[in-house]
Amino acid sequence: MAKQIGLFGFGVVGQGYYSIAKKHQQNLLPKTIVVQNKKKERNPELSFSFDPNDILDSNYDIGLELISDPEEAYHIVSTLLKSGKKVVSANKKMLAAHLPEFLQLEKEFGGSLLYEAAAAAGIPIITTLDTHFAGDQIEKLEGILNGSSNYILSQLFEEGLTFEEALKLAQDNGFAEADPTLDINGSDVSSKLAILILHAFGKFVPEKDIPTLGVQHIRKEDVILAQKLGLKIKLIAKAQITADGITAFILPSLVNPKNALYWVENEYNSVKIISRNLGEQFYKGKGAGSLPTGASVYADLTKSERGYSYSYDKLNGELPKTFQPKSGNLE
Ligand code: HSE
Repeated sequence: MAKQIGLFGFGVVGQGYYSIAKKHQQNLLPKTIVVQNKKKERNPELSFSFDPNDILDSNYDIGLELISDPEEAYHIVSTLLKSGKKVVSANKKMLAAHLPEFLQLEKEFGGSLLYEAAAAAGIPIITTLDTHFAGDQIEKLEGILNGSSNYILSQLFEEGLTFEEALKLAQDNGFAEADPTLDINGSDVSSKLAILILHAFGKFVPEKDIPTLGVQHIRKEDVILAQKLGLKIKLIAKAQITADGITAFILPSLVNPKNALYWVENEYNSVKIISRNLGEQFYKGKGAGSLPTGASVYADLTKSERGYSYSYDKLNGELPKTFQPKSGNLE
């Protein structure tokens, strides 16, 4: 029997998921879509509501939480999990703040929470970390995790635009967050890195404990200087196991053409993983935008229907304990 799906939010990501579901499997379309803006003109063929309780209080099987407000998103996800529901979320800021609590709720009430779209959009990195490294030890994870800032850096480098012009283009293309400050100051990346650290290393590091600098201070002159040296500036997120535990940070860095990250352009993201059994693996894909992000939501929905939930195998059945990385020792 077709599952009843309730969707919260119909912005860039919600519309991406919807257009994919419409093309492929009509039974994965939402029955109700809860939205906020009462003034916006809506497609009369869809069933919109302004009240989250229309989904939260009813007998829906799966809730898709695709809104930008972290507090409201927390209310939606925790309420659904307390009802033992299946939930898909893309709200990295909210997830990074509450994952240990959500794991507890999953255990207690038997629901499930998937969130592939919350990190690196179209790259299936969370599922990969969750399934493919079971008998392995990841030693280092490094990558580019924000499509908007990478797009801005590429545009400064290739097209010679100003920072403001490039940011405007990132917004027009639907890459940036509702509040683009989160993209620019690296905060979006620290949320994503906190989520990936949990899946890679089985430790919960609150994003406030990850030293973070975004691209906010990079200007055309810096890019021109890097260019003269045959280098590029990239916003690099890194987490690794050291003798002292985990170190993690986010920093604009100079990279040379021998580094695969040098070639990651525009809204593309990438993740490099170094593990004991597999050595180096490199994943690259679209890290922002309506369809890449909507595709991950759609894939989560199909996985959820099939009964897939994250194993968190690195936790060995324990709930994650908050872990404070050592300061310094950033390699
Ligand atoms: N604003 C985010 C980015 C969207 O630019 O990467 C995808 O998480």
